[in-house]
Amino acid sequence: MSHLVAPSLLSADFLRLGDEIERINNSAADWLHLDVMDGVFVPNISIGFPIIKSVANSATKPMDVHLMMIDPQKFIPQFRDLGVSSLSVHYEACPHLHATVMKIKEAGMKASVALNPHTPVEVLTDILEALDMVLIMSVDPGFSGQKFIFQAYDKVLRLDKMIKKQGLDVLIEVDGGMNMERGKHMLEVGARVLVAGDTIFKASDPVDTIKRMKMLAS
Ligand code: DX5
Ligand code: ZN
Repeated sequence: MSHLVAPSLLSADFLRLGDEIERINNSAADWLHLDVMDGVFVPNISIGFPIIKSVANSATKPMDVHLMMIDPQKFIPQFRDLGVSSLSVHYEACPHLHATVMKIKEAGMKASVALNPHTPVEVLTDILEALDMVLIMSVDPGFSGQKFIFQAYDKVLRLDKMIKKQGLDVLIEVDGGMNMERGKHMLEVGARVLVAGDTIFKASDPVDTIKRMKMLAS
C-alpha cells in the first residue's frame, strides 16, 4: 500500500504563508500537517485559531492537526468546524484518553494518538482498536529541525506488530527529523505517513522534495 507525505507547516516562511500553502496545494503532498502548541505541554507556542482558519481557507489538502497541548478535548469542536481531517492528541497529555478519542471520532475526524519518544507503544494496547492512527514522535515535540531519535524505528516495528496481531487497520505516522534515508527505513518497518518540516520547506525545491519523498519505495 502506498504511503502518504505530510509537510509540516511549522517550517514554512510565515511571512509568505499564502504562497507556501499554494505550493503544497500544487504538490504531490497528501496532507498538510499543522502543529499546535500551548507553551505548557511543550516549551514552545506555535499557531492559534486565527491563523489555522486562514490556512483552512486556502489549503486544498486534508489538514492533519497535531495538538501539543494539555486539555486538547476542549478544542475538538473548533477543529471540526474548520474541516480538519485528522486530529492527534498526546497520550502524555490526556488522562481520559479513551473519552477524548471517542469525542474526536464522534466529531467526524480521524482519531490519532501521539507518543513522545520516551513513551512505549505498548501503552496503547487496550485502545488501539479505537484508533485511526498513531503518531510516533522521532524528536521531542516542540520544534522543527531537531535531531532524529533512532529508537523510533524499533517503536514503529513493535507498533506494526501489535496492529497486525490485533488484525487492525491503524495508520502509523512518524514525525520529527525526517529525511529521505530515514523515511525509506521508516516505511520498511511499517510507517505509512511521513511528516517532514525542514527537509521540505528548507529545501531549494520543496515541491520536488515532496515528489521524491512520495517516490520512496517501501
Ligand atoms: C515537532 C513537530 C513536527 C516538526 C517537524 O514538535 O511535531 O511536526 O515541525 O519538523 P522537522 O521535520 O523539521 O523535524
Ligand atoms: Zn507534528
